[in-house]
Amino acid sequence: MGETVGHERRVFSGVQPTGNLHLGNYLGAVKRFVEMQEQDVQTLYCVVDLHAITMPYDPRALRHATRELTAAFLACGLDPAKSILFNQSQVPAHAELTWLFNCVARIGWLNRMTQFKDKAGKNREAASVGIYAYPVLMAADILVYKATHVPVGEDQKQHLELARDIASKFNLDFGAPDFFPLPEPMIEGAATRVMSLRDGTKKMSKSDPSDLSRINLTDDADAIAQKIRKAQTDPEPLPSEEEGLEGRPGAANLVAIYAALADMPKAAVLAEFGGQPFSAFKPALAELAVAKVAPIAGRMREHLADPAHIDAVLADGAERAEAIAAPVARDAYEIAGLLRTRR
Ligand code: TYM
Repeated sequence: MGETVGHERRVFSGVQPTGNLHLGNYLGAVKRFVEMQEQDVQTLYCVVDLHAITMPYDPRALRHATRELTAAFLACGLDPAKSILFNQSQVPAHAELTWLFNCVARIGWLNRMTQFKDKAGKNREAASVGIYAYPVLMAADILVYKATHVPVGEDQKQHLELARDIASKFNLDFGAPDFFPLPEPMIEGAATRVMSLRDGTKKMSKSDPSDLSRINLTDDADAIAQKIRKAQTDPEPLPSEEEGLEGRPGAANLVAIYAALADMPKAAVLAEFGGQPFSAFKPALAELAVAKVAPIAGRMREHLADPAHIDAVLADGAERAEAIAAPVARDAYEIAGLLRTRR
């Protein structure tokens, strides 16, 4: 992790409580959250429920999904004694800073966001204002903690750039040169963009209608093995060098997944399996994936059986998060000229 001048290093990231986590979320984000929690840096991980209401949803299902994602965080190894784990809506400073940032960000910047175009679809006029302003809330999530490092998958890169633009413009407009740090995206590792198992040119995603396209963290061993067996590949054996994966998206995806699960470089995977057919590689990958992923579902169920504990984790996390965020939001309001007479 590089140093960010003038600011203490602090890690923040968020995940939406919309349905089950899949292998892309795990390898691109949550597994890396756990690794960073073990380093000498403060870590905050947030269930971003305010983001989840930007698309049509059912309030009861949302409450459940918030607890379920918290259970998944715990089952993956996030530890409330080491990281601050909380849900966004319990810390009002996120929404407070968002309003200020809505007045700093430019419409032209938001118009360039590709995820909005994807999510809003053809009928843009009917999309919520929230889904349009979503990246501004995301900037507030990060900057309300003055976070310096943000582990995310590749698909969040553009949003992180926007957060940096908002931080710079705020600092510049209000003559507060170093108030907000420029947060660094950490898009690292072998699997920053895990692809669909059915189509190696499409991202693995919660919204893909085919369940065979993704491995869910709640899948059992049989489902995981079956999905890998059916994963799209090609008739050629595995290459021995990374260049040999070019133009072979299905093969490249499975190699990246293996590398990320085994914590080894892709080159080392190819050194081991180069020249072998998929009929040999897929069973090895299935065994590895089952060993790493299947136990998570069991631990998740144990946590979900005790919702009072989950709620206590979130309540404690929210208090600790608020202690950092509230003073930052207050200072930002004062810098922006909003009169405060209450102490
Ligand atoms: P979300 O909930 O869609 O995804 C959570 C994390 O998983 C990563 N990810 C993937 N990584 C690799 N391969 C994939 N196929 C894949 N699919 C998803 C995402 O990049 C993300 O890191 N806007 C964010 C949530 C958010 C946030 C934040 C993140 C809100 N505020 C502040 C960081 C900082 C989102 O919708 O992620």
